[in-house]
Amino acid sequence: HNADKGEFKHYMLKEIYEQPDAVARTIEMALDNNETSKLRDDFLQRYETQLAGIRHVQILACGTSYHSGLVAKYWFESLIRVPCSVEVASEFRYRNPVVVDNCLVICISQSGETADTLSALRDIQKQTPAGLVSLALCNVPTSSLVRETDIFLPTLAGPEIGVASTKAFTTQLAALMLLVLKVGVIQQRVTGERLTTLIGELQQLPGQLYASLNLDAPIKTMSEHFEDKKSCLFLGRGLQFPIALEGALKLKEISYIHAEGYAAGELKHGPLALVDKDMPIVVLAPKDSMFDKLKANMQEVHARHGELFVFASEASQMVAEDRLHVVYVPEVCEVLAPIVYSVPVQLLSYHVAVMRGTDVDQPRNLAKSVTVE
Ligand code: AGP
Repeated sequence: HNADKGEFKHYMLKEIYEQPDAVARTIEMALDNNETSKLRDDFLQRYETQLAGIRHVQILACGTSYHSGLVAKYWFESLIRVPCSVEVASEFRYRNPVVVDNCLVICISQSGETADTLSALRDIQKQTPAGLVSLALCNVPTSSLVRETDIFLPTLAGPEIGVASTKAFTTQLAALMLLVLKVGVIQQRVTGERLTTLIGELQQLPGQLYASLNLDAPIKTMSEHFEDKKSCLFLGRGLQFPIALEGALKLKEISYIHAEGYAAGELKHGPLALVDKDMPIVVLAPKDSMFDKLKANMQEVHARHGELFVFASEASQMVAEDRLHVVYVPEVCEVLAPIVYSVPVQLLSYHVAVMRGTDVDQPRNLAKSVTVE
């Protein structure tokens, strides 16, 4: 593989940098550059009747793909009012779950070969609930998952070699937003100006991702504070909570530092007890509807001598001070912010791992695709 890395030291870094193009390709499946008021006619056209009938969404996935499902749940419910459940496939398959009628089952998987995700799908298919529609959101068109589902929605990320998933994740998010809009349009749950605004914002996304790569240098500097740390918290609220979980997973798997992602509102229900001067706390803090509440959570941590590393928008007017480090992320609308805020957490875990000398692309004990139970 060596030659394919080009100017990059690792596949992971190359794949982080490929995200603006990968996301641009993915959104082009549904968006035409010259058209801002509607989706392309041919996007999922063959499945319109099936998608018109669904009343509930069940998302199944593992690891990073599960985190993109968590973001999609917020989108399905808040933007188009379609109830959505998300669960890790490794639990769902063993608990004899209820699958309601007229359910869209979305299996999210980079590889399409994850054993737990495939088994969970097969179990649902055996139950044969009425009006079941299955969809694979997958990066590998020839995979088992794609063969065994009704609908294939591709992520056009290109091959992902690094074990730590990066561009597969952000393209999953982009494709999930397209799917939410498609279902919303078919069922007349999103129309007119609201639709035009969301399409316009999606078209800006590749540019915003490109701009976020400029954070590489400041985040590398920031990462020096993590080199000798034992444990770390990632905090977010609302749409940024799944990104906090994803940030913690990335840091764990490639740097081997223990990390936990938490919904910041849950701090006082337990993890606040962990906070002391040796505990770095990474916060995803765009200036959104949850910002004021998040700010109060940051003050709670700061008062207990925790060291804060905040990814914020300039509009938040957060300024660095003692034990408070701030990196500004490019402006992005609230709905799509989780996609852009994925980049700084990827870069942070990458630089911490490089500094600690781990095998970034092939972390110990892990496989790219988990084809066993
Ligand atoms: C991500 O960085 C991990 N390596 C892992 O959690 C991965 O996302 C998970 O195993 C699911 O893989 P899949 O998307 O190929 O199903």
